[in-house]
Amino acid sequence: MLLRVISDVHSNLPALEAVLSHADGAGADCTVCLGDVVGYGGDPSPCIRTVRTACDLVVAGNHDLGAGGVEPLGSFGPAAAVTVRWNRRVLDRDSLGYLAGLPLTAHKAGCLLCHSFPPDPGSFTYILHPSLARKCCALFPGIVMLTGHTHVPGVWRPDGSFSTDEEGILPGCCVVAAGSVGQPRDADPRAAYLLLDTDPGTYRHVRVEYDVDRAAESIRAAGLPDGLWMRLYR
Ligand SMILES: [Fe+2]
Repeated sequence: MLLRVISDVHSNLPALEAVLSHADGAGADCTVCLGDVVGYGGDPSPCIRTVRTACDLVVAGNHDLGAGGVEPLGSFGPAAAVTVRWNRRVLDRDSLGYLAGLPLTAHKAGCLLCHSFPPDPGSFTYILHPSLARKCCALFPGIVMLTGHTHVPGVWRPDGSFSTDEEGILPGCCVVAAGSVGQPRDADPRAAYLLLDTDPGTYRHVRVEYDVDRAAESIRAAGLPDGLWMRLYR
């Protein structure tokens, strides 16, 4: 089964549209979203609508649960907290209820889907250290785990090593970080998504150019902190 995996859209509609219309992912059997549909960006409502339509499965990110009133404001940094409060104000009840009700984990084609840290999905721990990747593989032997949250695409192997290869063969057990559609943090401003074929067991990290100016303008128009649109260009 060919999975198209998106994550961390962060209310960036131009990036989301570019990823979903990208030819390489058009033949996917299934599209899944690993959370953080909202937060930071200026277009939360159309991003929620698009994700609900395009994705077969969606798990909760901390920003989704923050907007939905499940995750407390105190767990966010200053700029993120501004956007959480803004989302609570501008989103309608249906959207807020949808975000609040997203599950922390899901399963598809033998893969475990989780926004952050599969052993403790509600902790929103960042897998940025080999010991955390090793813990995932120890607790879920033989399972391919798909995660977002770090905004850096790559594959953690059972020995704790991290590969940033664009494509490769999946180790039997691993944590695949999908990267971020709407706010990459690996010094490549292009939108990121993941294609994963469970049959031969291969993956490919895909990057897509999108209209960054349009996304930046949307954040400015919403009156959100300047650092949030500036970051999109880096
Ligand atoms: Fe995120």
